Amino acid sequence: MASSKKNLLAANWKMKLLSAKAQDLAGKLRDLAAGLRKSEIWVAPSFTAIPAVASAVKASAVRLGAQNAFGAAEGAFTGEISVAMLKEFGCEFAIIGHSERRLIFGESNELTAERAAAVLGQNFGVIFCVGETQAQRAQNLTGSILREQMSALLDKLQAEESAQLVIAYEPVWAIGTGVVANTAEISEAHSTIAAIWQEKFSAPPPAILYGGSVTAANFAEIIALDLVSGALIGGASLTFESMQALAAISEA
Ligand code: PGA
Repeated sequence: MASSKKNLLAANWKMKLLSAKAQDLAGKLRDLAAGLRKSEIWVAPSFTAIPAVASAVKASAVRLGAQNAFGAAEGAFTGEISVAMLKEFGCEFAIIGHSERRLIFGESNELTAERAAAVLGQNFGVIFCVGETQAQRAQNLTGSILREQMSALLDKLQAEESAQLVIAYEPVWAIGTGVVANTAEISEAHSTIAAIWQEKFSAPPPAILYGGSVTAANFAEIIALDLVSGALIGGASLTFESMQALAAISEA
């Protein structure tokens, strides 16, 4: 999977959509993706819907991924899924460190970074999520939280292992709330992430997505921002109509 210069529309279906619905939506996205020039569609269904979605997007422009992965090749890791298991179904990437994993399931900076580095080391893509809570923003801690989350990963990464890395800035307070970050907040966070990257690698950063209540009503001004390479989309990725509208904005 080459790193993409196109706008990325990454659908995070979370713990939603059983196989039949996921397959149907994926089939429509496959047809949509075939006509896109400037954008790519990535989908991350639930683990159990991956086989059905894989059959719908096989040999198409849609890239298939998972919502988490563990880096060990195999072993006594109850409840986890390996890169080889995901590759078996044609998956090419995993979302790692989503705030729901961090906050509801207690995944630490250290574990998140370990997952991401080990998965990247197996020639597999990673969308690595970072972002602050409302309380952290209110205390002016956004920059230092981003630095902690990014540094945990960068400490484990060689520049050459980052070809398949995508970062997603997702302020926790914007996820699933309908409260989207404003363009100044997004630009500032993306600049911070890019600067942290450049301090370590003196190279351009990977693609940085924005995520958190992205809809067709707010996406045009977000995708127009310099450092924004696309979006990680939850709620608005669950219907074909809203994905089609987001793709149209990305293509404009
Ligand atoms: P949302 O979710 O678009 O529903 O806010 C985004 C995400 O959690 O990745």
